[in-house]
Amino acid sequence: MSKVTVVGAGNVGATCANVLAVNEVANEVVLIDIKEGFAEGKAMDIMQTAQLMGFDTVVTGVTGDYSKTANSDVVVITSGLPRKPGMTREELIGVNAGIVKSVAESALKYSPNAILIIVSNPMDPMAYLALNTLGLPRNRVIGMGGALDSSRFKYYLSQAMDCNQNEVEGLVIGGHGDTTMIPLTRLATYKGIPVSTFLSEEKLEEVAKATMVGGATLTGLLGTSAWMAPGAAASYLTESIIKNQKKMIVCAASLEGEYGMNDIMIGVPCIIGSNGIENIIELELDAKEKEQLAASEKAVRATNAILKEMKLI
Ligand code: LAC
Repeated sequence: MSKVTVVGAGNVGATCANVLAVNEVANEVVLIDIKEGFAEGKAMDIMQTAQLMGFDTVVTGVTGDYSKTANSDVVVITSGLPRKPGMTREELIGVNAGIVKSVAESALKYSPNAILIIVSNPMDPMAYLALNTLGLPRNRVIGMGGALDSSRFKYYLSQAMDCNQNEVEGLVIGGHGDTTMIPLTRLATYKGIPVSTFLSEEKLEEVAKATMVGGATLTGLLGTSAWMAPGAAASYLTESIIKNQKKMIVCAASLEGEYGMNDIMIGVPCIIGSNGIENIIELELDAKEKEQLAASEKAVRATNAILKEMKLI
């Protein structure tokens, strides 16, 4: 029996619960929110698609009662405010830090062995906050950003090449920020062939830029931040854990010397299995990519410093 808790029944949380159910990632999904009846409503709506979609996963919704989330294998945290148009993810730190800390503590109380997936923004510092306040080993705290950003990268690459998205591979490392993420165009492939075979340097630069502001573009179009791909990305990570798929997924991981960094959570390729982050893949970066990663590290550290100023860690 596998059980997943999704904290926050807003757009991202409810989408994540829906994808988890439709893909039968777990036997049981509990959606929890503080807004009275909200999670119950979202869960009921999802369950009324079970016959239509042909899934057996049981989704339940609860208001604030963490005892119902007990013994979850994975806890996905989506709580907090989303971005409004023109806002950066980093601007959300003041409000979201307190929320993320408190819901993570409540969830851990009832699921002491769970692996945490942090979705709330600013994602890298929120994951860093969770890791540093909950006393968990680093394999059990995962930041979702890179999974989403890499998916957007593959989308933009496939658009540029007019090809099947599922035949494109690409990684986006670094922070989950409009200026901090690093789409690794040099390593991206189409059917194993470097994308530079098909796309000019200029076009690749365009793809990288579009990827970096992928979230902001959607926030501008939707009036709030995106939820389909963020929810699906959290489900994708959860599936690799629950089914021990050992997929290589970019996510914010706590580094202990990898990439020459310590005391930070930032996006790097990881092997994700039943123990969470089971391995961190150290890529051989070129000089430009190293420079980009150093700039990204600096930006993520600056946001982490705000958590310290706020005395949250
Ligand atoms: C995005 C938000 C969820 O990138 O960070 O869409």
